[in-house]
Amino acid sequence: MQNEKQKVVYVGMSADIIHPGHLNIIHEATKLGRVVVGVLTDAAIASYKRLPYLTYEQRSLVVSNLKGVDEVMPQTTLDYVPNLEKVRPDYVLHGDDWKQGVQQKTRQRVIDCLAQWGGQVMDIPYTQGISSSMLNQRLKEIGTTPEVRMKRLRRLIDAKPIVRILESHSGLTGLIIENTSVTVNNRKQEFDGMWASSLTDSTSKGKPDIEAVDLTTRLYGLNDALEVTTKPVIFDGDTGGKLEHFVFTVRTLERLGVSAVIIEDKIGLKKNSLFGTDAVQQQDTIENFSAKIRAGKNAQITDDFMVIARVESLIAGKSVDDAMERALAYVEAGADGIMIHSKEKSGNDIKEFCTRFRQQKANVPLVVVPTTYNQVSEDELASWGVNIVIYANHMLRSAYPAMVNCAKSILAHGRSLEASDEYCMPIKEILELIPGTK
Ligand code: SPV
Ligand code: MG
Repeated sequence: MQNEKQKVVYVGMSADIIHPGHLNIIHEATKLGRVVVGVLTDAAIASYKRLPYLTYEQRSLVVSNLKGVDEVMPQTTLDYVPNLEKVRPDYVLHGDDWKQGVQQKTRQRVIDCLAQWGGQVMDIPYTQGISSSMLNQRLKEIGTTPEVRMKRLRRLIDAKPIVRILESHSGLTGLIIENTSVTVNNRKQEFDGMWASSLTDSTSKGKPDIEAVDLTTRLYGLNDALEVTTKPVIFDGDTGGKLEHFVFTVRTLERLGVSAVIIEDKIGLKKNSLFGTDAVQQQDTIENFSAKIRAGKNAQITDDFMVIARVESLIAGKSVDDAMERALAYVEAGADGIMIHSKEKSGNDIKEFCTRFRQQKANVPLVVVPTTYNQVSEDELASWGVNIVIYANHMLRSAYPAMVNCAKSILAHGRSLEASDEYCMPIKEILELIPGTK
């Protein structure tokens, strides 16, 4: 006998934070037939909003244990169509909130697809008073743990075409990175994490970028950002110092929940790479630097922490061949990723390196810092095989001229009226900036 139970109902969800709204949709779905839930993968979710708190495996496990769910399958794109063509459901159920905003297009594609076999979309009245976005906000307020934060970088690398990192040197810049977003083509764009830059950590203390600000002091500063954010941190480890010291650095960073340290293959008094060959940039031998990488990897406790090797050949005026030889050796020594740096404006040397490196190593994460070749877009970098782009100094470089102009205006006018109008945010705004100030 053909009964209703044999009809197939498809429900797509991220299922990061299960709430009564989800249960209501599943309950409604059970009334119509056999319930197949497509759980969005990390990559599908990261294509339009922030990475979920739980991994795909955790989320699908939770959903498969919900009452009324008959089957769980991964939905690897925001677009439902590939799964619908596989499952050919009679119904697709979704909260009616998708009739508006970004999700309208997705809904229309579902309607058009189902029409091919007479399937139907059912919009379930939205459960008032609760939503994932609201819970997300609450979770952000609660914060994170070192372990969860640390794991996030590897998940982001797996889930996104390119991971976008911005420099932070204070609690305030951390908050900017945590909270700033813009919508471009209906997609929310935000930064994925923070770069603890040696240049801006030093400069904001009025010191040169020569490893003069010691690790303890830098970590003290980093803690301000860790206190008020949840996004992952990549730490600029300079040269990593002595091998015997680097093992302690790795342990300390890992314990704090930092996701990765990047160390550069230089020795002697470190000078900032953007001086290029205007400064003495002496590279370590492949053997010595490989030993440092190996020692760092042996020191870490978890499998999640990353030691990324930074190849300075192009900075030191050497060839792409030299950079390739070093990069491959460092990967052999256990590096979890390679950062290739250059101060060339064209970006051609970086492109050549990335293309050649990708031919040899399809999956080893590649990191770039396009400070001088800043005309190259993220999409282009991703097409070269880059996994992580670091905007390495832009919070400090934008703040400094604004502060100098403000100081000059007060001096020039003998009062602060002009400076306040032109260079300052309103008092009301600064008072409301940090929750709890009032
Ligand atoms: C930093 O931000 O400190 C870096 C990148 O190491 S660079 O300044 O380009 O060397
Ligand atoms: Mg640095």
